[in-house]
Order: sequence, then structure tokens, then C-alpha cells
Amino acid sequence: MLYRIVINKIIIVLGTVFIFSCTNDSVKVIDKEELQTLPKEITFNKDVSKIIYQKCATCHRPGESGPFSLLNYNDVYRRKKTIVKVTHSGYMPPWPADRTYSSFVGEMYLTEYEKQVLKAWVEQGADEGDQKNKLPEPVFPKGSQLGKPDLVIKLPRPYQIKGNNRDHYVIMKIPYEIPHDQYVRTIEYVPGNRKRVHHVNGYMVVYDEGKKKNVREGEFFVNNYEMDERRVWEKLKITNDDGTFPMRIPSATNYLPGVVAPVYPQGIGGFLMKKKGAILLNDIHYGPSPKDEIDESYFNIFFSKIQPERKFGEFQLGTYGVSKIEPALMIPPDSIKTFTSKYTVQSDISIVTINPHMHLLGKSFIAYVVDPEGQTTPLIKINHWDFRWQYFYTFKKMVKVPKGSTIYLKATFDNTKNNPFNPFSPPQWVGERTGSMSTKDEMLQFIITYLDYKPGDEEISLEVKLK
Ligand code: HEC
Repeated sequence: MLYRIVINKIIIVLGTVFIFSCTNDSVKVIDKEELQTLPKEITFNKDVSKIIYQKCATCHRPGESGPFSLLNYNDVYRRKKTIVKVTHSGYMPPWPADRTYSSFVGEMYLTEYEKQVLKAWVEQGADEGDQKNKLPEPVFPKGSQLGKPDLVIKLPRPYQIKGNNRDHYVIMKIPYEIPHDQYVRTIEYVPGNRKRVHHVNGYMVVYDEGKKKNVREGEFFVNNYEMDERRVWEKLKITNDDGTFPMRIPSATNYLPGVVAPVYPQGIGGFLMKKKGAILLNDIHYGPSPKDEIDESYFNIFFSKIQPERKFGEFQLGTYGVSKIEPALMIPPDSIKTFTSKYTVQSDISIVTINPHMHLLGKSFIAYVVDPEGQTTPLIKINHWDFRWQYFYTFKKMVKVPKGSTIYLKATFDNTKNNPFNPFSPPQWVGERTGSMSTKDEMLQFIITYLDYKPGDEEISLEVKLK
């Protein structure tokens, strides 16, 4: 159990649940719109604004993660050349998974047609166009993207972000008490400081009846780099009163900018929230700020009346996982090096969500399944690894992996000076370091959330709305 804690502490950047469907035949994604021809006169009001408002403004608005707003003609006009550049290079919207290999729930992308519209608009002089076509500025839901929560859990007190221009990785305990046990459908994290919060990865800790008197004892916030994990648990006083460890539910809540909390079909993947417990962020990453700021994040809890019939299981390949990395994960300076790992599943499973994880030297990642008949099913391919965008990818429909199938992964790391994220200049030896939480050390993990297979799973859509 303890090693699970270590794992999650080391997982420095975490994401969101996004799902993907495994489309064997999708060698090339053809968007229906791709076949459309471009309008002769392209204007902001008629053609461009709806693309930007739908696909960019979620993050590019005041207080969000995008470094500037894209909420009206002037905003967009000012950045028009860069917008064409970043949309054509695939840098924006940020979605590292290769859509020609596999696709997921909630994926962010522009169709080929939309990219061409933006380009042609700029080439034609970037006119605003007729006022009668003008769309209202987009409005975004406040507080929750899912609906009205059954319960809101706030940070025990505001978190002070020090204005020292440095990243902060914080482990947080957010205790709660509720009148009676409840089944949880989903937990939505709402950042109090959208500009600063880069990612959140959280467990749920639940205490069995009578096991914990005071859920608020101990500290609430501990600096991730501060100390070894045993000390962290002591400081937070997470254990039961008798010193044993309470039950922890992994990936109970995750967040990355732009991502909506996952909702799975009724009866799948929920869990029981006991009367006493805590949300344990393991960790929360605040980006650098020049001035002191505060964060008052909170969690929207959505209960389920139905007892979940099917619980998720989780395992991972690679670092701390069920399969070793070959060769051992050590990357010499000035080298680009590839590593593999493989794992054969012992029973039929249905994969729901996957999360590839590397740190700053990651360059590319691919994972797929080969079944006992030799059939290959693609899982995910990331051609340009970006440390900042590590989503939890959820398949549109579950992927059945029959007993005896082997999951393969292959990942490449770039430890040269050409890698702009290389934390060392000049490059140095980098590799796995047991117990290390630092992003400057490397990891290679592929986390798989699954259900025990049931006939019909392949047909269950995971593109679910709450109500
Ligand atoms: C999920 C959130 C998100 C979405 C959606 C998104 N962006 Fe961004 N965008 C960001 C963040 C965060 C940055 C800053 C990243 C960085 O450090 O380069 C950024 C940076 C940019 C930049 C500056 C790049 C540079 O090199 O200076 C441009 C231009 C941009 N985005 C345009 C867009 C456009 C156009 C869209 C829609 C097609 C879009 N973004 C969608 C989050 C987002």
C-alpha cells in the first residue's frame, strides 16, 4: 500500500479523465467537414468566432490557464499570425494523443477545415465582417460544469501561494464529515486560482466507523519536496487512530486546465464515501507567480443513489508497476534513448482509462495490445510528448483485452540540449531514482484503469452526461 503513495507523489503532472475509443480501422481520421469547401469571403463574425469560442476560449479567458483571452475580434486579431501557426503545428488546442491512431472522450482538436478557415481568414486580411452575424461573447458555467452538486467540500483554509517565481508542488489533506455514508458518482475539482493551478491528482481517504476520532488533526498542507513520504504521512496524520492505514481510493479526482470531470455510466466505478474521510491531493501543482496569491479551491461531490456494481481496478506498467522497463531507465547525457515494457494480462479485462506518464525528457510514447491470436489493438500514440499535458484518456467505448493478451509500450526520451525542457544544461545522467519525487528524475509509467470484463462491455458508451 505504501508504495502506491510513493507512486502518486512522484506523479508530478496529472490529468483528467479522457476517454478514447479504439478504432482499429482509423488509420486516417477524416472529419466530415474536411470535405467542405472554404467560403469565398471569410470573416470573424461569420466563420472564425465560432471556432475560437468553442475550441479555444475555454482556456483563453480571464483567470484561466491560457496566457491571454480570445473572447472577441480584437483579442483574436492581435494574435492572428500566432494563432495560425500554433493551430497548424498542432500545438493548440493542447491534445498530445495522435488522433489518427486512437480517439478519446473529450478530445480537443481542430478539424482540417477549421484550420484552413483560420489560415484563409488571415490571408484575406482578417476582417471582422458584418455586425449582424456577430456572436455574443461566450459565457461559461460558474462553479460547476456538470450541474448542481450534492455537496461542496472546501479547502480547510485558503492556501497561500508564495510569490517567489517558483513552482509549488503541495500535498494537501482536505478533511470532511458527512451525516451518513453515500455513494459517489463523481468529484469535480474547481480551481480557486485558475491561473496558477496546473494540475491536481487526488485520492479519497475513507475511515471505517470508529477508526478515526478527529479528521482535522495534523497539518493540511505539506510541501511535496520537503521530506520523505513517511514524514509526510506523519505530518498530515492520515492514519487511523490505531496507526493502521485507512482505505484509499486512487484517482478519485484529477484536474488539468480545460478538462471536465469524468462521468461514467451509472453503476460503474463509483465508490462509497464514508461518514469521515479526507480528499488527499497528491499533489497539487501551482505555477510560478511573482506576487503572493491565495487559492480557495473546492470540490463538487455528486452522489449516486445506486450502489456501484462494478469497481475499477488499476495497475501500471513501468516504474513501480507490474512490469519492468527494458533496459533499466537510465538516460545518458546527449542521447536519445528508447525503452520498452510489456505485460500479459491474466484474465479478460475492459480498459476504461489510460494515463501515460513521463517527466521532462519524454519525447514520444506508444502503447498497444496484441491478443493471443496476434491481433493488434492500438491504445495510444503521442508523437510529441509534452510534460504539461498529461491527460487521463478515457476510451469512447471500453477496450476488451482478452486473457493472455500482451500490452506493449515503447517510449523515447531526449536527453540532449535540443530538448527545451531538459532540466540540465549541459545534459546529465537522468533516470529513475527510488522514492524520488523530483521532476528532474525520470519515470516511465502507463496507468490502466479497468473493469473485469463482462459480455457487452465493448458496446457501453463512456460518453456520459450526468443528467
Ligand atoms: C486546455 C486549455 C487550452 C485550450 C483549449 C487552448 N489553449 Fe492556447 N494555450 C493554453 C496555455 C496554457 C498556453 C500557454 C502554454 C505555453 O506555455 O506555451 C497557451 C498558449 C497559446 C498561444 C501562445 C503560443 C506561443 O507560442 O506563444 C496561442 C497563440 C494559443 N494558445 C492559441 C490557442 C488557440 C487558437 C486555441 C484554440 C484552437 C487554443 N489556444 C486552445 C491553453 C489552451
